[in-house]
Amino acid sequence: MNFREINPSPRTLMCPGPVEADPRVLRAMSAHILGQFDPEFTSLMAETQEMARQVFKTQNMQTYTVDTTSRGGLETVLTGAICPGDKVLIPAFGRFGYLLAEILERCGAEITLLEKEWGQVFAPEEVEEALKKDTYKAVACIHGETSTSMMQPLDEIGKICKNYGAMLIVDTVATLGGADVKVDEWNIDACIAGTQKCISAPSGSALITYNKTVEDIILARKKVEKGIRTDSDIDGTLPQIPSNYLDLAQLQDYWSPRHLNHHTEATSMQYAVHEALRCILLEGMDKRLERHMLNDKALTAGLTAMGITIFGDIANKMPVVTAINIPEGIDGPTLRSGMLNDFGIEVATSFGPLDGKIIRIGNMGYSSQKRNILFTLGALEAVLLQSNVKINVGDGVAAALEVYKNA
Ligand SMILES: Cc1ncc(COP(=O)(O)O)c(C=O)c1O
Repeated sequence: MNFREINPSPRTLMCPGPVEADPRVLRAMSAHILGQFDPEFTSLMAETQEMARQVFKTQNMQTYTVDTTSRGGLETVLTGAICPGDKVLIPAFGRFGYLLAEILERCGAEITLLEKEWGQVFAPEEVEEALKKDTYKAVACIHGETSTSMMQPLDEIGKICKNYGAMLIVDTVATLGGADVKVDEWNIDACIAGTQKCISAPSGSALITYNKTVEDIILARKKVEKGIRTDSDIDGTLPQIPSNYLDLAQLQDYWSPRHLNHHTEATSMQYAVHEALRCILLEGMDKRLERHMLNDKALTAGLTAMGITIFGDIANKMPVVTAINIPEGIDGPTLRSGMLNDFGIEVATSFGPLDGKIIRIGNMGYSSQKRNILFTLGALEAVLLQSNVKINVGDGVAAALEVYKNA
């Protein structure tokens, strides 16, 4: 039997992740392997930590990566920071808010869900009202809810959490590197991001950062494994973190100058994250955010001019994801397969109450480029015309070009 060489078809990834990895990242991944305790490798890890601090806009010493996807990053932070019996408030406005609840239930947390219609976000007062009613250890929420394309403003919520003595733990998986995230200024205690979206590396690593409040909890739960512990390793007083692989106490030791042995670091993925962060800082955070905003403006102008309606509360739409209401005359699978099979463009379906109603278009990281926006608009027009959907022919690309011309 002949097995195929890996030689994937070219694709333009305009879904909300994974998106196209920066070619510099892919090149870095093909560099040869270094041992995980080689000083040359550990000094690269230290650089990654410093670059990640700049991208998260934080001074947190505990800023590093976990070898897992973003979901694993969420699980690592929540399992470490939240002890069984802790009360956690979750303002959920889409699929990933419910994921936080699912993970926290397994941590033994006592959760309270605040729910919102999909396509909306919370007003800060709603979170404050809930915090007045009970004492919570933490509020856990999503910044960019990719399932609905909504982005929760966090600056006010961070202040409120601080006033009520609750930690704020935030999933910025879809926003970091494409929309503004200010960990310290917004009073975020712990923050998790993925690599396969606006960071523009492959999936397989999670970026995390947490402050001294969280670090103290982690240290109080620390218990170094028997085979490697020394006389100076004293057990903490809080319940031990129930996961060995996702044990922040041991991971933080591995990332400290002590480099205490835990797992075998995913070397090539470290190269990827290092290069991706370097590319972000080279472009400049402000320029990068402006690029995403301009491409978002062109995309939404083009869609609207074509006669397509945008889903949800537009004022709180993520600049890196746009959800469109599927027009009459076509269904989601036909639209998506037309885009993929005829143009090699991937856009995404949705989940739960929005399944079959919206299509999500990403505008993330390396994929966020003028030519991709124009290509997507042109392809979408052709696909809709093939199904005889009524649209304003020619207006979409023209409106987007106008945005670029005036920029
Ligand atoms: C907002 C958000 N959080 C978490 C995840 C889970 O990430 P992963 O699939 O990398 O585990 C995703 C993935 O799409 C996401 O969009």
